[in-house]
Amino acid sequence: MSIDTADKLFGAPALGDYAMRGVESVPGMLQSGSVSVLWSLIELQDEFGIGGDVAEIGVHHGRLFIMLCLALNAGERAYALDIFGDPPGSHAEDRDRFVANLARFGIGPDHFELAVQDSRAITPGAWPHMTEAAGNIRLISVDGDHRRDGVLHDLALAGAALNQGGVIIADDLFNPWYPTVTEAIYDFFRGPCGDLQPVAFIAANGPVETGAAKLLIGRASHAPRYKAGLKLLNQDDLKHCDAFAGHADVPSFFFAGQPSRRPLDGAMREILRDITHGE
Ligand SMILES: C[S@@+](CC[C@H](N)C(=O)[O-])C[C@H]1O[C@@H](n2cnc3c(N)ncnc32)[C@H](O)[C@@H]1O
Repeated sequence: MSIDTADKLFGAPALGDYAMRGVESVPGMLQSGSVSVLWSLIELQDEFGIGGDVAEIGVHHGRLFIMLCLALNAGERAYALDIFGDPPGSHAEDRDRFVANLARFGIGPDHFELAVQDSRAITPGAWPHMTEAAGNIRLISVDGDHRRDGVLHDLALAGAALNQGGVIIADDLFNPWYPTVTEAIYDFFRGPCGDLQPVAFIAANGPVETGAAKLLIGRASHAPRYKAGLKLLNQDDLKHCDAFAGHADVPSFFFAGQPSRRPLDGAMREILRDITHGE
């Protein structure tokens, strides 16, 4: 059963307001193409009735984390993890900016848990909060340590935390500043990644210092309907669908101009139900 927008913790318009305006007031690495496709992804989770918590490894000043928080429904929580300097916490000004940026959008300490830690010191399964030995995360961004082993470790953390319909947002694929991230993502799919597979590729659409491409990763059970929904809602930015990392039919979203997403309104909902019927 789908989740009603009346359940949105911060009100139904908050996510759209942030995606269209607020995001520009928060420094960080998240480009308009990613905002557009992630907004659709959040709408699709509500439509498919996929609830759960949200999380990010590597929050910096909160640009993406705020978007994840504004997707929350009643009863859900957000989990942030950042080292904020080495030794952990030594860049207190970054932590303070993160907390202050969240507060500007009405996201207070009751809504999220912040762990100031090196993610490499955390065993997969130990963060964030687990319910009955299983993860309850429906959306998690991996954007912390950019070295190969660090990314592989964080993908394992994210995979262990994910619920059945959950999606990992892997950042910086094909970023020329961080070839080690690309190396890690290919190695992840060559390794024991279980039922996780690529769902969609979101190309970069801006200077490298404002972000890079993202890869959405989900479980085999949910990948077909996410792909169908994202292709429908972002059809004007869909470049092609090709095999990627050994998995067939992965849509690539590319932005020649401004991203152009379609809202999940009544007409789109009807088409989506037709094409995902039985999945
Ligand atoms: C590229 S920034 C993240 C950008 C952010 N996602 C945004 O929306 O703007 C990378 C962040 O990862 C954090 N980080 C780097 N290595 C880490 C580690 N080993 N554990 C936890 N956080 C780490 C950094 O402190 C930094 O804030």
